[in-house]
Amino acid sequence: MPPSNEDELTQAALQRLDGAADPRFAQVMRSLITHLHAFIREVDLQPGEWMSGIEFLTAVGQACDDKRQEFILLSDTLGASMMVVILDQLRAAARAGQAGRTLHATETTEATVQGPYYWDGAPELPLGADIAPGVRGEPAFYSGRVTDTRGQPLANALLDIWSGDGEGVYDMQVEGAGMAARARLRADAEGRYWFWSIKPSHYPVPVDGPVGRMLIGMGRHPNRPGHIHMKVAADGHVPVTTHLFVAGSPYIDSDAVFGVRPSLVIDFESHPPGKAPDGLAVERPYWSAHYDFHLQPEAA
Ligand code: BEZ
Ligand code: FE
Repeated sequence: MPPSNEDELTQAALQRLDGAADPRFAQVMRSLITHLHAFIREVDLQPGEWMSGIEFLTAVGQACDDKRQEFILLSDTLGASMMVVILDQLRAAARAGQAGRTLHATETTEATVQGPYYWDGAPELPLGADIAPGVRGEPAFYSGRVTDTRGQPLANALLDIWSGDGEGVYDMQVEGAGMAARARLRADAEGRYWFWSIKPSHYPVPVDGPVGRMLIGMGRHPNRPGHIHMKVAADGHVPVTTHLFVAGSPYIDSDAVFGVRPSLVIDFESHPPGKAPDGLAVERPYWSAHYDFHLQPEAA
């Protein structure tokens, strides 16, 4: 019998999943259909509104190319990407036998979104290198250690680092530009790392497409607080993709992509010109930032 009311329509759509070969796919689709039908009913969606939604998603797809991923931006700005990131890290903690403890209690460095500006294959530079020579911005000295969650140093841990310049512009946003403000570094035998770059600035996510129009419609700003991105990895440990955020940066409490986690907000200390912690004589005022990364051992 064909469905004769809204409840039966939802049931009929769910029953069509009975033949799905992959149980996980069936579970995801069952939930999607259930929530989608409930959403349409809850807001009493009008045909014109439904068509606006279809046109919006079409425009999101059309804005994507090999350099731009508007669907990820949509996911980021709706908080969906961060929800996936948080759940993934909790799942890794549960696998390692730490179920029931909050992420914070494990002291594993918290993860956040990767964003669209990761560029695979950054140059591998020695510890202490300036990874942003000639890049606009105020110099900043970064240092800390990479350890496991018990504080044991992770020798030779790999840090893959990237940021925009001191005005919030990434190399990838400049037509024809090569890599800048990016590098891969290896921690030393005690897990220590240090390098020079710039103090990152706040900046807007791309707003010249449908997601930008959505943000305006929602009465939202598009900005992210100043941050530097890092992927940190070591053998036998769960790698983490994260940022360090500049304490006091504009938008620290209203990141457009919900990526800020309090444990990742760090003070940048200002220094007059002079001898830096690595012995370098610095002729300009500079900043310093310190952060220790803690990676969780992989489940046995
Ligand atoms: C970023 O931090 O690079 C970023 C993250 C999400 C959307 C846009 C940019
Ligand atoms: Fe960024």
